[in-house]
Amino acid sequence: MSLNIVIGAQWGDEGKGRIVDYLAAGADFVARYNGGDNAGHTVNVGNKIFKLHLVPSGIVHPHTTAVMGNGMVINPRTLIEEMTALRSAGVSIAPQRLHISPAAHLITPAHRALDNANEAARGKGKIGTTGRGIGPAYMDKASRRGLRMADLLAPDFRDKLRDHLLEANRTLGLLTAPELEVDAEAESYLNQTSRLALYIRDVAMELSLALKQGQSVLAEGAQGTLLDLDHGTYPFVTSSTTVASSALTGLGLGLDAARDARVMGVTKAFQTRVGSGPFPTEIKSKAAERLRGTGKNPWDEFGTTTGRPRRVGWLDGVLLRYAVRVNGLTDLIITKLDILSGMSKIKLCTGYTVNNALIHDLPGGADGISACAPDYEELPGWTEDVTHVRKWKDLPKKAQKYLERISALAETPIKLVSLGPEREQILEL
Ligand code: IMP
Repeated sequence: MSLNIVIGAQWGDEGKGRIVDYLAAGADFVARYNGGDNAGHTVNVGNKIFKLHLVPSGIVHPHTTAVMGNGMVINPRTLIEEMTALRSAGVSIAPQRLHISPAAHLITPAHRALDNANEAARGKGKIGTTGRGIGPAYMDKASRRGLRMADLLAPDFRDKLRDHLLEANRTLGLLTAPELEVDAEAESYLNQTSRLALYIRDVAMELSLALKQGQSVLAEGAQGTLLDLDHGTYPFVTSSTTVASSALTGLGLGLDAARDARVMGVTKAFQTRVGSGPFPTEIKSKAAERLRGTGKNPWDEFGTTTGRPRRVGWLDGVLLRYAVRVNGLTDLIITKLDILSGMSKIKLCTGYTVNNALIHDLPGGADGISACAPDYEELPGWTEDVTHVRKWKDLPKKAQKYLERISALAETPIKLVSLGPEREQILEL
């Protein structure tokens, strides 16, 4: 039995898509278990760039079966658009290889409208959500009035959908936001969703049988540890559980599935965040532009889903240690090391000063970090281009030192280092 879990060790956007694509070469199943189309996973294969928001990144490998678990919230419109784009790029998308849990929740136009209306009502205290309706969909799930994939098969789905839209209109009215055209929205939604019924499967059963038969399952996390609803920088978080243990609940697997699991935490060689919330190592000076890029390259630090410029900063070792602890990381995967080439000095946050005391681990949860001032170690940078390096010995010594320091700080070995967006630009350790 082999379960591998890939999760973001930061605030999302760590480059999980390209890593999952790389690891999927050796997996039978690739399964998303949380979040929805707030995620943006980019996979580069040759001259093709796949921007995936819902379909698991491993789908690009023809031998894999892609699974969307019960922990997800799915917008049918985005899903159908993505399936169409994948098909036109030559990727086979058929009910035989894309399986969706009947217990996954549906995102409707009402959820999107409510997300935007709630954000507008928050004013200066806004979370900076992606506007994809994620929060309202999980709210309906927790309130036990959500619509699920299984509902698509029920004869009264049309009535349930209309009730849901009417209910949302009452809330939108209270928020003085424009209301939805219930009949038109319902009709267009029903047209789209009817096409998805063929993809519904008991994925929990399928995955647990597959694991028992010795097949391998790669669980693809979305967002990152610090956006976790419980363990992230609350309230500036997403509405799902993003940490590794949610791979089990979000796919319907038992604890036995995790007995020998590798839990791989992906972190950039620096830190980024999109949306509001604390960010101790954020750089606000001109140096930020150096890390962010201009937006001309697909790998520059601009959101895949929203196009917003990301906030950037130095790698935060305290938060990385926290991610190791709350996820039980067995391996680290470092992305975007190449971006640091040419910087004369690299800062690495190794502790925080709080109330005149230096700490190396978070005393409470991550939401306490706004009171923390980062304590930095400065390491010498390297000038060499590393994008063609495929062996550890060929990495500049200073880059090796930086990676070794990160690994020592996190007390976790590094498994992979990504040195560019292409599939082959990876160094395996
Ligand atoms: P929501 O998930 O759209 O509700 O957004 C809540 C917070 O999570 C906002 O700060 C978003 O910018 C952030 N967020 C959600 N999904 C992602 C992601 O895939 N990458 C990075 N940030 C995300």
